[in-house]
Amino acid sequence: MTLARITICIIYSAGMALILSQVANAGTILYPPDSSMFIHSPAVVVIRGSSEDLETVQVTNSTQDGKRTQPDVNLAPAVKDIIHVTIPLERGVNNISFEVNYMDHESEQLKLSILYNPAHRKLAEVPVGFEPHIFHDGNLPASCATCHDMNIIPSETLPDTPTQSPCYPCHKRLTQRKFVHGPNAAFHCLTCHRQGSAGFKLVAQGDTLCFLCHVEEKSLFHRKFIHGPVSTGDCLVCNDEHSSDYQFMLRNKINSVCSDCHPKSGYVNHPVNRHPVSGVPDPLRPGRELSCTSCHNPHSSDVSQFMFYRSKSSFSICSECHAK
Ligand code: HEC
Ligand code: HEC
Ligand code: HEC
Ligand code: HEC
Ligand code: HEC
Ligand code: HEC
Ligand code: HEC
Repeated sequence: MTLARITICIIYSAGMALILSQVANAGTILYPPDSSMFIHSPAVVVIRGSSEDLETVQVTNSTQDGKRTQPDVNLAPAVKDIIHVTIPLERGVNNISFEVNYMDHESEQLKLSILYNPAHRKLAEVPVGFEPHIFHDGNLPASCATCHDMNIIPSETLPDTPTQSPCYPCHKRLTQRKFVHGPNAAFHCLTCHRQGSAGFKLVAQGDTLCFLCHVEEKSLFHRKFIHGPVSTGDCLVCNDEHSSDYQFMLRNKINSVCSDCHPKSGYVNHPVNRHPVSGVPDPLRPGRELSCTSCHNPHSSDVSQFMFYRSKSSFSICSECHAK
């Protein structure tokens, strides 16, 4: 071999090695897939850096309306070359870019688009190009299974403490709100989700699921006059199935839950002129504020207009609070 050919050869293989090393070392977003739709915020993004000397990640989020933010992200400490970034989402399309920085001062850019539509799944519209994403598709992806475990042994189906559940490390945020729904306090997820099914499908649909346990409430929800969403079994338009920052597992403050469907403007001077609907104590329920449900039973009633079952008609309700 001539010297020239050897030199070319060396340059060539060095070049290849460089290209190969760039390919092998490029950082990637392991989860979620690009163009996923989320109905909950924050989103957890799992990044594999190009090397283990990963130091920090900076996040910039440009939303649909041109707003650019550098959100407060929660960076779990990197485990080897893996880092989990928890990002609060803005309503609509989030174009998120990550600047991954390494200890040797190198850095690289990664990009991801997420649609955040915080409606109940049933009400959420999915624009073209975005897809609701089903994560559990049989087994855990290999890239997660190196650290996370999904082999549910029988003693973990109804664990004594949350941390014994294989669901806990990834889903602990689902129960980190003020009020936690009964079965979730101990991570009894598999009372409602079918073990091993794709997407952990529910064991029953609509209110049938709820009445598996809330047997006593069933008759209370089916008095003579039944509220619209209750009659169609849509418990979850008002209640959250996992946990909530509002009492009674509501998705929002009581009056805001109601005004989603009964626009608020009509109920400021309601039921009579200058009557308050909030902001004063409820005379019948010590410690609670007056609200729509001080007078209306949200589920059903023997009195029309869903009046609280104490009163015999919508007129006699006044004297429950106002002594004659
Ligand atoms: C190198 C190890 C490792 C790999 C690989 C890994 N994780 Fe994790 N993950 C962890 C650790 C450690 C935690 C923190 C657990 C805890 O706090 O109990 C965690 C937490 C999480 C959380 C909860 C984060 C939070 O703050 O709420 C989610 C979601 C998650 N992982 C998803 C995934 C997914 C999806 C994959 C695969 C794409 C994956 N992880 C791959 C180690 C890993
Ligand atoms: C009381 C029944 C019930 C229990 C217990 C329950 N879930 Fe759910 N879960 C539901 C229902 C209902 C949905 C909504 C499904 C839909 O909208 O299609 C859901 C949806 C989900 C979703 C997708 C939507 C979201 O909120 O992000 C996740 C993730 C989830 N459940 C995880 C869990 C985990 C983890 C546990 C255990 C801590 C658990 N669930 C316990 C009823 C339950
Ligand atoms: C490796 C982490 C990990 C573990 C372990 C895990 N999940 Fe999930 N799960 C996810 C991620 C990521 C999603 C996607 C939605 C999200 O980001 O919250 C998801 C979504 C879901 C959904 C919504 C449907 C779907 O497949 O997208 C349900 C229901 C659910 N998980 C239940 C469970 C239950 C029950 C367990 C325990 C038996 C469990 N998960 C264990 C990471 C995990
Ligand atoms: C596996 C059993 C189980 C299932 C299924 C179940 N729940 Fe519950 N739920 C409970 C337990 C246990 C409590 C706590 C009871 C208590 O504190 O009195 C509870 C409490 C609640 C509360 C709070 C009541 C209060 O006074 O604050 C609401 C609201 C609720 N559930 C709604 C639902 C809805 C909606 C569904 C259907 C999606 C459902 N539950 C399905 C077991 C269940
Ligand atoms: C998901 C939508 C939805 C939500 C949320 C909702 N409602 Fe309703 N409501 C309806 C529907 C549908 C009807 C039936 C309308 C009809 O029959 O004309 C109804 C009817 C009523 C009626 C009786 C009207 C009549 O003329 O008889 C009252 C009172 C009422 N709702 C109060 C409330 C209160 C209080 C809340 C909050 C706790 C609430 N609603 C939340 C959908 C909703
Ligand atoms: C102090 C008691 C009281 C409070 C608080 C109250 N209501 Fe009413 N509401 C009534 C009475 C009484 C009627 C029947 C009035 C009538 O027949 O004209 C009524 C009627 C209704 C109706 C049916 C008639 C209509 O206007 O469409 C709806 C819907 C309704 N209320 C929703 C609400 C909502 C939403 C709130 C909370 C923002 C609320 N109410 C708070 C007493 C109350
Ligand atoms: C659940 C209890 C409750 C019921 C039922 C109720 N009210 Fe009231 N009402 C209140 C409270 C609380 C106030 C505010 C009192 C205060 O500010 O000290 C109030 C205030 C009023 C006021 C004074 C408004 C003002 O500031 O000028 C009138 C008038 C009134 N109510 C009439 C009625 C009539 C008519 C009915 C029946 C249709 C009725 N109320 C049903 C609790 C109730």
